[in-house]
Amino acid sequence: MGVKRDNLRVLVVGQGAREHALVWKLASSPRVAEIYAAPGNPGIARLASCVPIAASDIPALARFAAERRVDLTVVGPEVPLALGIADEFTRLGLAIFGPTRLAAEIESSKAWAKEFMARHGIPTAGYRVFRDEDAAMDFVRRHGAPLVVKADGLAAGKGVIVAHTVEEAKDAVRAVASLRSGRAIVVEDFLIGREMSFFAVTDGETAIPLLSARDHKRARDGDVGPNTGGMGAIAPSRECDGFLESRIMSEIIEPTVKGLAGEGRRYVGVLYAGLMLTSSGPKVLEFNARLGDPETQAILPMMESDIVDLIEAAVEGEGLSSDLVRWRPGASACVVIASAGYPERPRTGDEVHIDEAGAAAEGVILFHAGTRFDDRRLVTSGGRVLNVVATGASGQEAADRAYQGVRHVRFRGMWHRSDIGRR
Ligand code: AMP
Ligand code: GLY
Repeated sequence: MGVKRDNLRVLVVGQGAREHALVWKLASSPRVAEIYAAPGNPGIARLASCVPIAASDIPALARFAAERRVDLTVVGPEVPLALGIADEFTRLGLAIFGPTRLAAEIESSKAWAKEFMARHGIPTAGYRVFRDEDAAMDFVRRHGAPLVVKADGLAAGKGVIVAHTVEEAKDAVRAVASLRSGRAIVVEDFLIGREMSFFAVTDGETAIPLLSARDHKRARDGDVGPNTGGMGAIAPSRECDGFLESRIMSEIIEPTVKGLAGEGRRYVGVLYAGLMLTSSGPKVLEFNARLGDPETQAILPMMESDIVDLIEAAVEGEGLSSDLVRWRPGASACVVIASAGYPERPRTGDEVHIDEAGAAAEGVILFHAGTRFDDRRLVTSGGRVLNVVATGASGQEAADRAYQGVRHVRFRGMWHRSDIGRR
């Protein structure tokens, strides 16, 4: 990519609401001429040309990007990053925003990430890594509860079990050991505090923060029920002020970026720290190598500046400064609408009705997650179906508007939490 080139052709990899939000934001840039999405979804298809290539098919994505002379590729999900999409694109001289396979191990290997944090003094829960089930079992018996048991490797949200009793902890070790044999088991201290998702963009040496956000992972109101992929988000997080932000940058993000570079794993992309704000300061629960879902859907509508300028600066690696990004005042809320049976057994194939004019009049944005076209009918294709996003002067106002927007969506069995962004 040349400096400040316009008429850019951009490829977004992925197919969820996070990728819809990325495409939506990229489409507002005067510098972008054409957007492709692989594979995309029906909402994305209104703003981009969707190409039927799976997000994990790296050779096909690279061929497509080379043939269409794509100027910039933006990766949404973790799987292609863990498979080395950035390595392959870079090898072919294709500009890509996202970390290499080794840098992405900060997400794809929890055991490696914990050991990395220990080496660099990055605050996180105390932990032990076990290579076999019996040793983990023995430790759990002696240590007692509460404890958190984590599987190494990407586990699509199934790899973390918070155990409140020794019996639960033993079941957790058994469950995690059975996910894939030979995989390391991480056992860590249970931390108490409020959770926050913190995002920074880095070019491998310098980093600047994006907005923080609060995810709502549990299925039911009041943060109870089973864990999900996220039932809603608000941005910025109510906990994050300028003081906490600079503390997180200096104690967590900057040492991580420097540590990765120093270990030959220079990291370019979005670094996502899932944090627990404990009485002794912010501690890392996990790192992710990408933007969060659903946090991104709340964050990007707050961004006033051109996302292409930011991404380009990170990819070109000439140093990032905070004037690259500007935020609108106030807050944003994202409400996830799920299908019947989610998260255990989501039902699919229900016809989705959207009153687009009503939603537009309300000023809300609809991002598609689990929808597809069946002939000309829009139907559900997954557990998390649509996201309704609104901005407002406060989190409360944004949430109230998003919930007004929810009324313009209708399908059999739909449900959502009703306390996102509400105190
Ligand atoms: P993770 O995938 O590591 O973010 O974990 C998923 C969820 O498990 C987090 O959002 C927390 O609610 C919880 N969790 C993970 N690690 C811990 C910990 N050390 N202490 C308390 N809760 C945790
Ligand atoms: N919001 C959780 C995640 O993206 O991993």
